[in-house]
Amino acid sequence: MKVALIFGTRPEAIKMAPIYHELKNNKIEVKVIVTGQHKEMLYQVLDLFKIEPDYDLKIMKQGQELSELTSRLIEKLDKIIKIEKFDYILVQGDTTSAFTGALAGFYNKIPVGHIEAGLRTGNIYSPFPEEANRKLIGNISSVHFAPTNVNVENLLKEGYNKENILKVGNTVIDALYWIKENKTLDLEKIREKYNLKDKKYILITMHRRENWGLPMQNVLKGVRKYLEENKELYLVFPMHLNPLIREVINEELKGFERKILIEPLEYLEFIGVMDGSQYIMTDSGGIQEEAPSLGKPTLVLRDTTERPEAIEAGTAKLIGTSTEKTYQYMKLLEGKLYEEMSHANNPYGDGKTSIKIMKYLKNIK
Ligand code: UD1
Ligand code: UDP
Repeated sequence: MKVALIFGTRPEAIKMAPIYHELKNNKIEVKVIVTGQHKEMLYQVLDLFKIEPDYDLKIMKQGQELSELTSRLIEKLDKIIKIEKFDYILVQGDTTSAFTGALAGFYNKIPVGHIEAGLRTGNIYSPFPEEANRKLIGNISSVHFAPTNVNVENLLKEGYNKENILKVGNTVIDALYWIKENKTLDLEKIREKYNLKDKKYILITMHRRENWGLPMQNVLKGVRKYLEENKELYLVFPMHLNPLIREVINEELKGFERKILIEPLEYLEFIGVMDGSQYIMTDSGGIQEEAPSLGKPTLVLRDTTERPEAIEAGTAKLIGTSTEKTYQYMKLLEGKLYEEMSHANNPYGDGKTSIKIMKYLKNIK
């Protein structure tokens, strides 16, 4: 059995890392193809988890657009797939790297396993283009590794065969456990490094395409208004490397002093910074999954989510992107809502997802 792992962005690398090690430890031949859709943000994760890619397509360009990224990737992936003749291809989630990996596999009639399958918002433009990507990947996959019951139900409703759906949890929890077991999370050191010592802070991240421009401006106006009234609080913002995002952050937070704007954090440090925060505001997918495990209240800066489990579990609220709602929810978190949302509750798995995926592949004749 020769398996290809195809991925290219930070969150995919984090979620693929436990599978990479599990397959290797169980003597399954693995080849890692990184598309390089991300550069610095990807390499940080590869280093931490000691993943050595067999291929790096180094595709990233500043300000890359979806169509050109897609077309360049398909061609390059196809060449490698033709040479290597894999028995199986695994892709994770809903990025352009995942979609093109699945499509190039399908064109070469190689079975594709979709990790983190069955997440849906029901709105093809939100998140964009991820909702479409995951549906398209689903259509051409042979097996769907779904994290939760909600995800399994979504796939069944769309008519997928029950036998090809496996509920396995999310490998993001495997990655979190791996960090806890293998690395020392020295919160004090992280606090010192990022000038967070003795500070109460809110952690924020934003990067989604549908939030570029006005939605992000509106959120930051609400955040700023609230923080100007609450002088004991700081804002920590590890900024995505996309220049479009940085422009808005710099503009909206100009002249506001209690901000700590930093480069994307190495995963280990990011977990530390999440853990030390009062609460989290984010439009990220992965962070919505990690925050419940750490018992951190999370305000989701989006109109839809494909991760209703954290909301049902009570740790997350979907608040949209208006200035008013942002301000109101920050204010609400001063009260009893904060306690209600602070329970550590992990709806995304038991940390054994990668073992289940490995066993599935081992049993294929
Ligand atoms: C991509 C995924 C998104 C995922 C996110 C995780 C798609 C369409 N989008 O969005 O689903 O949530 O990754 O972070 O697949 N850049 C750098 N260095 C890096 C990474 C990015 O400079 O290491 C800059 C480049 O200018 C690049 C831009 O950010 O062109 C956008 O990167 P891209 O991968 O196209 O989109 P993301 O918003 O990161
Ligand atoms: N993350 C990180 N450093 C940061 C911000 C996020 O390591 O500065 C991690 C975070 O813990 C999560 C993943 O990156 O595991 C989420 O990535 P992102 O928000 O870019 O993408 P999404 O999950 O929305 O696709």
